[in-house]
Amino acid sequence: MAGITLTDVRKTYPGGQEAVKGISLDIPDGDFTVLVGPSGCGKSTLLRMVAGLEAITSGTVSIGGRVVNDLEPADRDIAMVFQNYALYPHMTVRGNLAYGLKNRKMPAPEIERRIEAAAKALEIHAFLDRRPGQLSGGQRQRVAMGRAIVREPAAFLFDEPLSNLDAKLRVQMRAEIRRLQARLATTSLYVTHDQLEAMTLADRLVVLNGGLIEQVGTPIEVYEKPASLFVASFIGSPAMNLVPLEGAVTGIRHLDRVFPGGRIPTGAVLGVRPEHMSVVGEGTPASGPLLDLAITAIEAVGAETYIYGAFAGDGTTAGGIVAAGRGPEIAVRMPGHVRRQLGERVLVTFDPAQSHLFDARSGRRID
Ligand SMILES: Nc1ncnc2c1ncn2[C@@H]1O[C@H](COP(=O)(O)OP(=O)(O)O)[C@@H](O)[C@H]1O
Ligand SMILES: [Mg+2]
Repeated sequence: MAGITLTDVRKTYPGGQEAVKGISLDIPDGDFTVLVGPSGCGKSTLLRMVAGLEAITSGTVSIGGRVVNDLEPADRDIAMVFQNYALYPHMTVRGNLAYGLKNRKMPAPEIERRIEAAAKALEIHAFLDRRPGQLSGGQRQRVAMGRAIVREPAAFLFDEPLSNLDAKLRVQMRAEIRRLQARLATTSLYVTHDQLEAMTLADRLVVLNGGLIEQVGTPIEVYEKPASLFVASFIGSPAMNLVPLEGAVTGIRHLDRVFPGGRIPTGAVLGVRPEHMSVVGEGTPASGPLLDLAITAIEAVGAETYIYGAFAGDGTTAGGIVAAGRGPEIAVRMPGHVRRQLGERVLVTFDPAQSHLFDARSGRRID
């Protein structure tokens, strides 16, 4: 087993596209690190450089303390699991699992032992003699996992391995991967664009944006203290409400209750998550800052209801403006099933202690 260390890793493609712009990262031995970011931010490029499938433009990649920049993929002691499974269609499951091991001239009894162990861990005994075409997507994904496991590598690399599965299966496989990784305690680097998948899988989350790291932390650290506007809006669904504080024009009454002394910073963006917003009158007193909203959409999902509202004030309220229709739409999470009408006016408040502040220009968090 082994940790993975990236030191100022960069990738410029031959066409001049700078996909990875200097990434340093230390993945401890046995850790499950998830790289998350939108499509095109360089996740696959970075993973493929660790795997040896893509040349590194500059910087170093070490696995288990050994620089692997110039090693072939087969010599890096890693196993990769892809979104499209990459199984050999003409071979049985058993054949697929054995293939890489036979290539390495492993003795047959050892190959058998490893296939047995993987089949047991993944519950794929029943279809060892079928071909991939005779399996469901979830079963194929298990076989792809199995092929990684039998190699008993120093590290697993996953590139969006669940993207081709339907929602329910994805949640199930997610839990399975997590359990398996915890049991095998194999260092894992997992790439996904799905923030929920990232939150639920990761020991440590690395948020990537435009080829650079925005933030590294445990999922809860990142959720509770996003380092930038990008992270604040990318992690969490519905996204954090972000309201630019443009001088006196803020759309929020009694903003001085957020900023004791009344000094409202200009050029800042205030962030409040939907679950930290509440409707005044639903057991919530009007003692905090106030947002006067007209409901524009209602999403009832059973255990909770999200209401969305646009600023609807008259522009005259003291302590802040309320220009009707200005500012972003605000999402508010309410528990249970809520009976509200479109167009209805609601006063919404939040606890200033549960708010975030960002510099509008740099996008960085202000503490
Ligand atoms: N082989 C390639 N040649 C040139 N540009 C590429 C190549 N592969 C990816 N890119 C570009 O590099 C950037 C990062 O791509 P990628 O690593 O695939 O992102 P992600 O996996 O996060 O979606 C994108 O702008 C993409 O268009
Ligand atoms: Mg990708």
